[in-house]
Amino acid sequence: MRDFKDKVALITGAGNGFGFEIAKECADREMKLVLVDIDKEDLQAAVSFFEKKGVDVTGVECDVTLDLEVEKMVSTAIENYGSIDFLVNNAGVAIPGPVWKLPVQDWDWIVGANLMSQVYAMKRVIPIMIKQDSECHILNVASVAGLITSNGMPAYHATKHASVALTESTSYDLQAINSKIKMSVFCPGFVQTDLHNYERHRPERFMDKSDPYYSSYEYFSGQKRAEFVITTGMPIESIGLSVMNGIEEEQFYILTHPLYNTLIGKRVKEMLEGKGPDLVALRG
Ligand SMILES: NC(=O)c1ccc[n+]([C@@H]2O[C@H](COP(=O)([O-])OP(=O)(O)OC[C@H]3O[C@@H](n4cnc5c(N)ncnc54)[C@H](O)[C@@H]3O)[C@@H](O)[C@H]2O)c1
Repeated sequence: MRDFKDKVALITGAGNGFGFEIAKECADREMKLVLVDIDKEDLQAAVSFFEKKGVDVTGVECDVTLDLEVEKMVSTAIENYGSIDFLVNNAGVAIPGPVWKLPVQDWDWIVGANLMSQVYAMKRVIPIMIKQDSECHILNVASVAGLITSNGMPAYHATKHASVALTESTSYDLQAINSKIKMSVFCPGFVQTDLHNYERHRPERFMDKSDPYYSSYEYFSGQKRAEFVITTGMPIESIGLSVMNGIEEEQFYILTHPLYNTLIGKRVKEMLEGKGPDLVALRG
């Protein structure tokens, strides 16, 4: 996609971090914006930011873990602008913790936020885009955690690998029907955002903290680790441009951290050799 002027971008998780940065790049390209977030205050601040710049923008408060709310998000975009040309499935959370400790409600939450949100949105938006029969693009935000694995965050890795696979397989299906819709999956390493403050975005129905896990060492040390890796990650400034360059170049995998390329190659090589995860080698 290279022609952005007056096209409509629908961006989830736009109140902060990557979503907000991608929205800024879309605004620079004179797109109309539908900004979506579960966080009312951050969403309002983002909408005001773009209104002050004279951008045609609509804010939709929405919990993307709920299919019915995603339906409302899509219908608001269509009612306001009549089309959706660029869908950015960005909203997500990063929940650490070992599989034998992490409460099932946290699994339901992260699968909803990182995977099902993308399914709900594509299920509704793809038929609209097919009907439009114009140049469109769908960007699913996964992570390099969807291309490699590490210790301490099985739920995050599982949902991000699923997001990569969902995007790849859907791309085949769109090619099979000669669709004009192009797809990309964004797979960055750590970047300085608010991702470690994931508890801020815990939906009401996953709020039961009676499980002893929430007062355990694992819970607090997982949060500390998440805070460390995010706050020491790459500065966010270049992210929006990296994404939009990838969209313009019709790059399927958009990667930002060359450091991880060796690890991606190493994982594939070791898979083919039948070698399993080795914590000592990972830490080395
Ligand atoms: N920051 C990183 O290092 C990094 C690296 C790789 C991938 N990612 C991915 O990038 C995406 C964006 O994360 P970020 O780093 O910008 O974090 P962030 O926390 O700064 O932004 C995420 C936004 O999503 C919103 N959100 C969370 N749950 C939601 C829900 N249920 N419904 C609607 N909105 C919701 C939050 O309110 C927030 O505004 C995520 O999918 C994340 O997994 C981040």
